[in-house]
Amino acid sequence: MANSKYEYVKSFEVEDEIMFPNLIVVRVGGRHFQRFSEVHEFEKPNDEKVMNIVLFSSRRLKFYQRRASKVASIIVSFFTSVYVTKWKEFFPEKELKYPPSFHARPIVCASLEVLQEYLAWRQQHCHITNQHNTCLWELVKSGKTEKEALDILKGTQKQERNELLFQQFGINYRTLPQMFRQGSCVLKTEVEGIVKYSENGTPIKRMRKDPTIVHSKNIAGRSFWNEHQSLLKELGVFTKDVGKINSDYIRSFLFESKLMASTWIVIRIDGCHFHRFSEVHDFEKPNDEQALNLMNSCAVAVLQEFPDVVFSYGVSDEYSFVLKKDSQFCQRKASNIVSIVVSFFTSMYVMNWKAFFPQKELKYCPAFDGRAVCYPSTEILRDYLAWRQVDCHINNQYNTCFWMLVKSGKSKSEAQRTLKGTQAQEKKEMLAWFGIDDYNALPAMFRQGSSVFQVHIICSSTEIPSTAFLNIAIQKKTVHDMNISRMIGKHIVAEKYWLIMPVACIARFSLALKSN
Ligand code: GTP
Ligand code: MG
Repeated sequence: MANSKYEYVKSFEVEDEIMFPNLIVVRVGGRHFQRFSEVHEFEKPNDEKVMNIVLFSSRRLKFYQRRASKVASIIVSFFTSVYVTKWKEFFPEKELKYPPSFHARPIVCASLEVLQEYLAWRQQHCHITNQHNTCLWELVKSGKTEKEALDILKGTQKQERNELLFQQFGINYRTLPQMFRQGSCVLKTEVEGIVKYSENGTPIKRMRKDPTIVHSKNIAGRSFWNEHQSLLKELGVFTKDVGKINSDYIRSFLFESKLMASTWIVIRIDGCHFHRFSEVHDFEKPNDEQALNLMNSCAVAVLQEFPDVVFSYGVSDEYSFVLKKDSQFCQRKASNIVSIVVSFFTSMYVMNWKAFFPQKELKYCPAFDGRAVCYPSTEILRDYLAWRQVDCHINNQYNTCFWMLVKSGKSKSEAQRTLKGTQAQEKKEMLAWFGIDDYNALPAMFRQGSSVFQVHIICSSTEIPSTAFLNIAIQKKTVHDMNISRMIGKHIVAEKYWLIMPVACIARFSLALKSN
């Protein structure tokens, strides 16, 4: 790990560990799914193929040291990754028109009874909304406008809605698919599976835990819960059934912290186990230009999607997104912002994969974790960015040497030993020995990382300035105030450009940040 004078910025990161023995539930939900389902013409009120599962939990969870934002962001990122990857399997005829994204929030259940009541509450919600929506869309199909249908349903009770469905549309609500009425549970159940074959071809079987989808009328009931060994083992026994659900009581367990007002918010995302991911996908070492370009393309999409993100900086498998100080995005709710940005980024990563790696299959679903950190001043934010950039430089210099040593015939551990404790100057000499006389001649993206931000340019005509021109303008620091009009005349056609560029010195952009 790099050590630099900027490391003090780490002290702004807050601990969000959820203490044992609290149970951690992560609730994942679609973001703007009304629009998403319209654009993709999902069936109403339920499309069998799009039901999603919204609960993950474990008592003994040690996963990511029980850090709330890490746990929630990894789950939502992986969920998104699988959703996009599996899309074609469920909708072979439909193109995914834009990246779906999800939000997630951790819910801290102080006891098993709280979890039980939470489950009962979610299932009740499923039942009520499904019954309401089934009535609504039957009424619309029969010729009513949506508003008329809503007026008819206003204030109706369960029994009345059942009767309406039966008498007007001949639908017996109880015969509708269980998945629509009750939602879905995914549990791990023990099944016997073949793990390998012995030399004489005999299959060797072992018990293993496989996820299974089950449906039940009452997932919070003793009869359902206590008959599943895995639930009893992981979480414990339900000793009573839930009576009347007190949703206000349950809501009091929703874990929601708001980020401090008038501070820069940085959302830093980082690839999960990208060491393995880059091996499996055969990324070039130490830097894979296409892999970095893919990350950059996702960052551009994030800045386009979320106007409050004003600047971003990326290196290796991480990206930092800076939200403007007065941002009110998601009312500054930490888990909402983090999960949405991570999920959107992941969605983009999977969707864009083919464009950057046309010859490579995505072998498994990538995931990213995320965290939010607040920085109170522009100077500290600048130091944060400088910290990440120094890290990029140190890691790149180390990795370049490391892979040169490995290519020259050393084993990985020998290369590690050779580099242990070496200073920058020694590494420079080592590189020179391998024929890299000028470290600075290596691509700037590898040495300095990439940043994405928007520049407003006033052009004299509709002519689009070339990238080379923009680079010169930036080197001359005229992007400082985000206005390079002096160089091209003052006749007005305002355009916004997305710049992806390696930055020689991020400090230079602090003014640009200030002006946002
Ligand atoms: P966690 O983030 O803790 O889950 O671990 P990680 O395996 O993702 O490691 P970390 O984030 O610390 O570092 C990123 C890792 O991704 C690097 O150590 C590399 O192994 C790999 N990586 C990132 N970019 C590239 C690349 O361009 N080429 C290659 N070959 N590997 C890369
Ligand atoms: Mg990583």
